[in-house]
Amino acid sequence: AAALDGCEASLAVKAKAERIEAERIDVTLPGRSSTSGALHPVQQGLDEMTAIFSQMGFAVAEGPEIENEFHNFDALNIPPEHPARAMHDTFFVKEFAEGEQSEPMLLRTHTSPVQIRAMKRFLEEGHEPPLAVVAPGRVYRCDYDVTHSPMFHQVEVFKVDRDVSMAHLKGVLKHFLSTYFEKEVDIRLRPHYFPFTEPSAEVDIGCVFCAGKGCRICKGSGWIEVLGSGMIHPNVLRSVGIDAEAFSGFAFGLGVERLVMLKKGIPDLRLFFENDVRFLRRMGS
Ligand code: DAH
Repeated sequence: AAALDGCEASLAVKAKAERIEAERIDVTLPGRSSTSGALHPVQQGLDEMTAIFSQMGFAVAEGPEIENEFHNFDALNIPPEHPARAMHDTFFVKEFAEGEQSEPMLLRTHTSPVQIRAMKRFLEEGHEPPLAVVAPGRVYRCDYDVTHSPMFHQVEVFKVDRDVSMAHLKGVLKHFLSTYFEKEVDIRLRPHYFPFTEPSAEVDIGCVFCAGKGCRICKGSGWIEVLGSGMIHPNVLRSVGIDAEAFSGFAFGLGVERLVMLKKGIPDLRLFFENDVRFLRRMGS
């Protein structure tokens, strides 16, 4: 019996030694690193831009991507036969029948309809201007080449109050663009036409690549067009029932992909939508 006990004990010791050997770990081996994902560069841009306007006191608003003609066109002073409708390359979707009524629906061609929705909601809640809104979102146009994608993103910004002037517009633009590009940028307002603003202006920034000297990106002009803007047309204010004699407003709308391309030096719009993981890795901050 003693011999049996001794044998059992030595087997146990041996088994333990074997287990220790088998479970030995080399603590000097490098750890297994986990890779973390990052927000898509367009989402990063949207977040950054929205945050700059929030900090300036603009309230964030959103609207539907499937719109009706009233919000996308009519209320924005673009009546049915207006040539601007044709310029919008609109995707129409099947009419939605709601009870007896059915009306043509479309994929919104810009974020400007959120101006109408936000103003209406604000008035329905019983408020009076001032009203300052930033509206980021997806928009759609039947267009596809190096600089156009059928789906892209815009940020719409507007303010309505007594005595709002173009000076306010220019001040907000200068602050926004200098904050976004993390340096003092020059801006220039060039007369333009939009149906929903009067007067209207396209906004250029001093070329961020050559500092205005003239290069390939700015086509030698030293300036790059970045957005459309203006003073909200009285008809737009009237379409929601705001007294256009007492109140005025500024508005602008910018293309998110375009600004992100300029800030990060991205040469081709299509890179955003191909989802090549090498591009996404490089852009994920
Ligand atoms: N909605 C215009 C577009 O997509 C951009 C725009 C221009 C918006 C002028 C505005 C504005 O609010 O005032 O082409």
